[in-house]
Amino acid sequence: MLKATLLKAAGSPTLQRQVTSNPVARRVAARFIAGNNLDDADRVIRELNARGASVALDYLGENTESEAQARESTAAYLAALDRIQDHQLDANISVKLTALGLDVRPELALEEASKVAARGKEIGAMVGVDMEAYQYVEKTIETVGRLKQSYDNVGVCVQSYLFRTRDDLDRLNAWGVPVRLVKGAYRESPEVAYAEKALVDRAFADLLEDVIAHNPYPMVATHDPALVRLTKRLVAEHRRDRGTFEFQMLYGVRRDLQQQVVAEGYRLRVYVPYGTQWYPYFMRRLAERPANLYFFLSNLVRR
Ligand code: FDA
Repeated sequence: MLKATLLKAAGSPTLQRQVTSNPVARRVAARFIAGNNLDDADRVIRELNARGASVALDYLGENTESEAQARESTAAYLAALDRIQDHQLDANISVKLTALGLDVRPELALEEASKVAARGKEIGAMVGVDMEAYQYVEKTIETVGRLKQSYDNVGVCVQSYLFRTRDDLDRLNAWGVPVRLVKGAYRESPEVAYAEKALVDRAFADLLEDVIAHNPYPMVATHDPALVRLTKRLVAEHRRDRGTFEFQMLYGVRRDLQQQVVAEGYRLRVYVPYGTQWYPYFMRRLAERPANLYFFLSNLVRR
């Protein structure tokens, strides 16, 4: 209930204005967001690299409404790739197709994503495509399939809460597209997604077997210790070399677990968002864990 309310609030422009202009919200959000610009992100990437983790850099922004905005997102993603190369950072990038114009025209998102994928390929960096709300899933998978025809450095996220994901995974495995497996962070209808956490977790475990067995480069994106343990068991059973898969976790979440997997010699990539459009991302992080909301509210009261 609380989760659904927070996820609904993530789409409210009025709340967005109130929250983003609030200094306490900005302070709490700083736990999850590297800062407003590439210099801030650069500092965080270096810290994480020094601790043995790679980074997936995410320029915040989603649901652009014009071609001009989509091109601005492309320019920002290209600047991030330039920075990665110029400063020799151990990082790749994550993109959202709605930032690249998916709502305007799917062809526009494909054109813009192609520019980003081409630059990523030049510098040897994967371009991971985030998975957004249900209405975008089919278009995202189709776009990734078309990108894959020219760029082998494109990966995509799939969400275990969706009933359709098993079929999507079969398509992606057949195309040889690297997959990031997550539970899913949006508000979805019970007609298309599991509503109960236990079912989402079980679906994750089932899909995990599949990605470990059949995907060229599984990216296991979770902070759930039971699923991290299961991954370690499955990769051992399937004799997967440690260079052929990675764990992924979010900046500011379960740093203890992040350190643990690095210390054990597994690859870890931390997803690092930066930019001024942090409101929907922040609301999704609050929704994932009620304690984050209480922390936020208690800071507001103490002001
Ligand atoms: P779960 O929610 O069960 O959490 C397990 C434990 O992790 C909790 O008990 C708590 O300790 C900790 N935890 C989890 N979330 C926390 C938070 N916000 N704050 C503090 N502690 C927290 N989703 C999506 O729909 N599309 C996408 O493209 C992506 N991309 C993505 C990339 C990466 C690298 C990660 C790690 C996650 C995503 N997600 C995502 C988000 C994902 O769908 C999911 O919402 C979160 O990862 C939380 O789920 P867990 O698997 O961590 O399990």
